Amino acid sequence: MAGSFVLLEGGPVRDHVYADLASRIQRLRSAGRTPTLATLVVGDDPASLSYVRGKVSAAARLGIDSRQEHLPADAGEPAVSERLDAWNRDPGVHGILVQLPLPPGYDTAHIQQAVMPSKDVDGFHPMNMGALALKGFEPLFVSCTPAGVMRMLHFYDIVIAGARAVVLGRSNIVGMPMSLLLTRADATVTVAHSRTRDLPAVCREADILVAAIGRPAFVSAGMIKPGAVVVDVGINRVGDRLVGDVAFSEVREIASAVTPVPKGVGPLTVAMLMHNVVVAAERTG
Ligand code: GUN
Repeated sequence: MAGSFVLLEGGPVRDHVYADLASRIQRLRSAGRTPTLATLVVGDDPASLSYVRGKVSAAARLGIDSRQEHLPADAGEPAVSERLDAWNRDPGVHGILVQLPLPPGYDTAHIQQAVMPSKDVDGFHPMNMGALALKGFEPLFVSCTPAGVMRMLHFYDIVIAGARAVVLGRSNIVGMPMSLLLTRADATVTVAHSRTRDLPAVCREADILVAAIGRPAFVSAGMIKPGAVVVDVGINRVGDRLVGDVAFSEVREIASAVTPVPKGVGPLTVAMLMHNVVVAAERTG
């Protein structure tokens, strides 16, 4: 007999995060410290421009101010560094975000290090990522999508301690910090990827499977342990549709809970960014 199935929607989790932030933002604004996010886009990638528009409008709805800079693809690294240095020095800017990917020719790692760790609301600076990996250290900020997945798991009362978790994908933005957060929460974590031998068998070990590999509908029913919790971080454009990394309709027949795409993890990335900006502003008090 199949157990009950839970659709892990992001909307209620996002609303919960925003309800908490609203009063904190009100307090900061009354104290003359309006939380402010600075965003930098280099080049004209339509997806990047659209993501940043979404972040800026979410910020505006919450009462977070934005500074925006859009540089041409050929602006060059000195122009990017100059902009970031100015924001690093500006006490009115609490959080700085460089939208990725950068155009070809830019040294992403170098630019990520140019954002000062205390304004690194994306959590991408090696000091923040390194602190996440080390016992006895706390990062100032955690990468927003993995932080959002943790909020989602907690909100739906999913037990992490002791669970076997498989993270499919090892990117700096999602897979690696996701595996570190799950480890910190006492899961037994395997990081799997395109070179993993017998990937379906590895995935079938997972009580919690997080898919972040960027391949549409890659995770099939045969890769799921019955009753597993499946988190789909994929956002793949197929024609005019958004498709996750998980073949949702077949996987939901086997899993106990699955995040949909869209309306699953997506809304939480922006929510956790807003959370990080508020935390950054509160620390300046
Ligand atoms: N590109 C894809 N995801 C992200 C993100 O979380 N932050 C930034 N800055 N760029 C991204």
